[in-house]
Amino acid sequence: MRIGILTSGGDCPGINATIRGVCKTAIHSYGMEVIGIHSGFKGLLDLDYEELNKRSLTGLLTMGGTILGTSREKPYKKKQIDSSINKPALLAENVRKLGLDAVVCIGGNGTQKTANHMAKAGLPVIGIPKTIDNDIYGTDICFGFQTAVSIATEAIDRLHSTASAHQRVMVIEVMGHKAGWIALYSGMAGGGDVILLPERAYSMKNICNSITTRMKRGKNYAIVVVAEGLPIDDSDKRAGEYIARQIERMTGVETRETVLGYTQRGGSPCSSDRILATRMGSHAVELIVRKEFGRMVAVSGKEITSVPLNEVAGITRLLPQNHELILQGEKMGICFG
Ligand code: F6P
Repeated sequence: MRIGILTSGGDCPGINATIRGVCKTAIHSYGMEVIGIHSGFKGLLDLDYEELNKRSLTGLLTMGGTILGTSREKPYKKKQIDSSINKPALLAENVRKLGLDAVVCIGGNGTQKTANHMAKAGLPVIGIPKTIDNDIYGTDICFGFQTAVSIATEAIDRLHSTASAHQRVMVIEVMGHKAGWIALYSGMAGGGDVILLPERAYSMKNICNSITTRMKRGKNYAIVVVAEGLPIDDSDKRAGEYIARQIERMTGVETRETVLGYTQRGGSPCSSDRILATRMGSHAVELIVRKEFGRMVAVSGKEITSVPLNEVAGITRLLPQNHELILQGEKMGICFG
């Protein structure tokens, strides 16, 4: 068999470990040929690719980013800049031209949506979910998330001492797109006093009360963790900046904000993401061998399994209101808005 692999959408730690998991299993166990398609679906349209062999896989386990490069090309998007090219037809033609028996698409929500379109067009496709945001429906967890949470947690840890030294409120904005997974997990792990999630309504009055009550009890600082996707009233500001300015205005306590940004998705994956990426990559090959196409690799409890792309593509997995960690935090006096 000859298979293609591509990475699409925003990068995250663990993509290269997944490429390695797919390729090593495919080559070592099944003698497959593997080609790496460059820059996501763009490379499939442009026929930009390389043969991957055992030598090209050296050093991938620990490496951040993606050796194949990525893009946000969406070939099935209705409004295309150059509408003279029929991208869905070109994509199908190129899969045939390359002689691919399967295409493995590693990516987030947008990528799984494209993979589902390909499956509907009769192409042999397998999706592997990846994102630091952990917001892909159909899987309990995505690789990249645990690394991002560790990085955000370390950043929050470091804010405690400077906040205390200056008697300030420190607001930290973390990534997550429209979901609050990174904010909740890093906020809990980093000892946040206030954790603001897009899934939960908030009131500035409640937030400020919780900060002033804490200070009256003798704590001279507070840590506020804000998810980037938190809805705010001022579209010119980032969520973290908006919340910081409101807190300072309403409490009179000096407040600073930090936007953690792309450090959360750069660099080496943590050990648990390396394991998850490896398991997911290997499982994708098993699906190919069994010719179970049109599916996305997924985690269910402790098991690696798969779900039909058409049941999950395009659905964002938000935090449930009664997530166990939110309930736990509330019992401990953490303010969730
Ligand atoms: O989906 C991952 C993510 O890092 C989000 O957390 C963030 O909102 C977005 O990508 C940023 O994407 P871009 O690379 O387009 O700036």
